[in-house]
Formats: sequence, C-alpha cells, structure tokens
Amino acid sequence: MDRFEYRNGELHCEDVPVRAIADAVGTPVYIYSANTLRDHYRRLVGAFAELSPLICFSVKSLANLHVLKLLAAEGSGFDVVSGGELFRVKSAGGDVRKVVYAGVGKTDAEINAGLAAEIAYFNVESEAEFENLSRLAGAAGKVAHGALRVNPDVDPKTHRYTTTGKKETKFGVDIERAERFFFAYGKDPNVRLDAIHLHIGSPIYSAQPYVEAINKTLALIDRLRKGGYAVNCIDIGGGFAADYGQTGSPTAADYAAEIVPLLRGKGLRIILEPGRTIGCNAGILLTKVLYLKEGGERKFCITDGAMTDLIRPALYDAFHFIWPAKSAIVPQRSAEFVADGAMKMDIVGGVCESSDFLAKERMLPPVQRGDLLAVFSAGAYGFVMSSQYNARPRVAEVLVEGSKWRPIRRRETYDDLIAAEQGL
Ligand code: LLP
Repeated sequence: MDRFEYRNGELHCEDVPVRAIADAVGTPVYIYSANTLRDHYRRLVGAFAELSPLICFSVKSLANLHVLKLLAAEGSGFDVVSGGELFRVKSAGGDVRKVVYAGVGKTDAEINAGLAAEIAYFNVESEAEFENLSRLAGAAGKVAHGALRVNPDVDPKTHRYTTTGKKETKFGVDIERAERFFFAYGKDPNVRLDAIHLHIGSPIYSAQPYVEAINKTLALIDRLRKGGYAVNCIDIGGGFAADYGQTGSPTAADYAAEIVPLLRGKGLRIILEPGRTIGCNAGILLTKVLYLKEGGERKFCITDGAMTDLIRPALYDAFHFIWPAKSAIVPQRSAEFVADGAMKMDIVGGVCESSDFLAKERMLPPVQRGDLLAVFSAGAYGFVMSSQYNARPRVAEVLVEGSKWRPIRRRETYDDLIAAEQGL
C-alpha cells in the first residue's frame, strides 16, 4: 500500500531511514514518499481508464507546492476550495484549465481569480452563488463553465463532520430542486451550465453510496436532457477511502468495478476529485518522545508532536497507527496489533488542551525519551490542518524519492510566528 517499511529494525521511507531525516531537520517532521504518491495516482488512472476521467487532486488534502508539482507532472488537474488553493496550483505550475472549484462561500475576489484563470468548472453550490457568478462573468466579459453541485441525500456512513451529501448539510443544491435550477439558469449567457457535481463525504468505505448517488444523478441528467439541457459532464467528487489499518478499505479497482459500468456509454465526461486515497499513506508524521509520565489513572507518552501538527485524532477521534521508528518487530499497521511486552499508553503532545492527543489507550512497546515514533497514514489532512496554536511554529515537510530526500517546507521559526504582526 505504500513505501514505508522496516528494514533491519529501522523504518525506511523508500530507501531512506527516517532517522537520517530526523537527525538532519529535527522533529516533528512530515515525510512523504514521492513514489507512493505516484503509485496511488496511477492506480486510480488505471482503474478508471475505460472512462478516461480527468483526475483533479483535492488540494485541501495535501497542498504542498512540491507535491502539487509532482502530481501535475503526472497529468493531474486539481480540485480547489478557495482562492488560496487556486494560487497554490498556479504557483506550482499546475494547469489551471484543469481546475474545478467547489465551496459554498466563494467571494467575489475568488470568483474573479477563477474567471481570469479560465478554470474548467465552477462547482456552483446555490442559486445566489450562480447569480453572482453570472454577474461577475458578464462584467469580466467571460463565459464561465458551471457544474451544479447537487446534494443527493445519500448517507456515506462516515464521520458526521465529513458527511456532505445529506440533506441537512450546507453543501450543494437539493437534488429535487436541480431541475428548477436548470430551468432558471440553464440558458444563462454568462455561465454555460452543462455539468453536475457530486461530493458526498469522506472517507467512504464502500462503493455503495457512490452507486446510489450516481444513479440518482443519472436519472436527473436524463430528465434534464429530455428537457433540452445538454448535460455532458459528471464530476463524482472524492471521498475514496485510504487504509488507516482499522477497517478493510476498498481499492481503486473495487470502486471502479461498481462505478465504471454505471457511467460507460453515457456520453459524459467524467471527473474525479481524490485527495486522501492518494496522499494518506504516502506520508507519516515523525515525532520524538519527550517524557514518559504516570498519570492518576493512565500512562502518558509525551511527544514533541501535538494536535497542532495533526488534529485528526482530536477532531474526529481518528485512528492513526503509531510505532517506534526503530523496532525489532515489524508491526502490522492495524488497530488490533499487539506486540509482546506492549503497554497501554496515551500518546499526547504539549498543548494546553485535554483534546491534545495523537492516540488514546494505545499498546506501545517500551519506549524511552529520545525515541522516534512514526504516526502513519498522516499524509492527507495532516500538515494542511496544522496550526500555530500555543505559538508552536509549524513543522517541516520532506519529500523522499528513492535514496534521495529534500526538504519541501522549512520548519517555521519564532520570527514566522510574529511576522504578520510587525511594522503595524
Ligand atoms: N472534493 C470535494 C468537493 C471535497 O470537499 C473533498 C474533501 C474532496 C473532493 C476530497 O475528498 P477525499 O478524496 O480527500 O476524501 N479533514 C477531514 C476530511 C475533510 C474532507 C473535505 N472535503 C479528515 O481529516 O478526514
């Protein structure tokens, strides 16, 4: 599933022992495997090849310029949710004509940037947004390309914070209102509305919710076509699972086996917006043990990495497999894995919050101050969600390729913490 493996008792990323990186750039540090990113991208391309989809990597999941550059070189387009993400794609030299832009709160400045870049699609999330997009496109003398994001009311059976395709969420336009939407705006002179966008949640551990959402959408597209609207593209969004070692997650081929037959021969251009499934297992967070501590009821392993560096455990109770980088035992990266002599510990950071943990009641082998711990499956929604809370400078990022590695983001300094507040 990835290129992190234990060789002679030392965790390697591709051919580089992660300890060498820690020695050079310190900890905590995010380490990504370039070839795992490529493998995962190519696996999706291969699985969906029959549909020749445009793959738009979801920038929000892993936004480092050098990662975007690597995926752009593979031919990837990009899914963005803000002007800032569009700026990142441009700065990485990505092809802006392969950008799709979703989000319920696009500002005028952000829309104008998308218009100027002539992005592939604005994934429109409301009537009010469509009217604003049309007004701005008209003023700029441009014809924008619009996809209506429909909310199909399908339960992706994932965390409630990452469910997006259910009626009660803020995303998209209720699928029952979609025909009225086309009736009102389908012939707009400033926005060519000829596509449907879906994104129902993340991560989705089965193809079934996609099947349900796509079937509902295909029926809608049929009705729209009969009504004289030339819908020629469907963007099925992202949300494909990654293997965190907790539940068996489908492979790209498993999703494709269910999804491709639904879409073949329909005269539709297909877009996918994967994020997690490409980046998640291509990255680890490497952190160092600072102290071991006996609490009143629990044992604590206190690390230099904290919720500020990886917030997923605190925010979603997410499971990340954690194991020492030096280990005679080769662990199975699963929630059930227990090694002889392991002890139950909470792995926590130094932030002033009880929600500051990387793992709770986790079986760890004996560790001591100075040991390195690898937090696996941290490539997606890891660094991008980090913060400077408690005035903690954001950590470094490193990209490994074969036996070479290079920093792709320097560790922030104390000066970075105050830079935007100075000289005012
Ligand atoms: N397209 C749209 C419109 C999205 O909103 C998202 C993710 C994606 C694509 C990519 O989904 P993916 O393939 O990565 O699952 N912070 C959460 C995940 C939030 C996902 C937000 N939208 C986490 O750490 O699990």
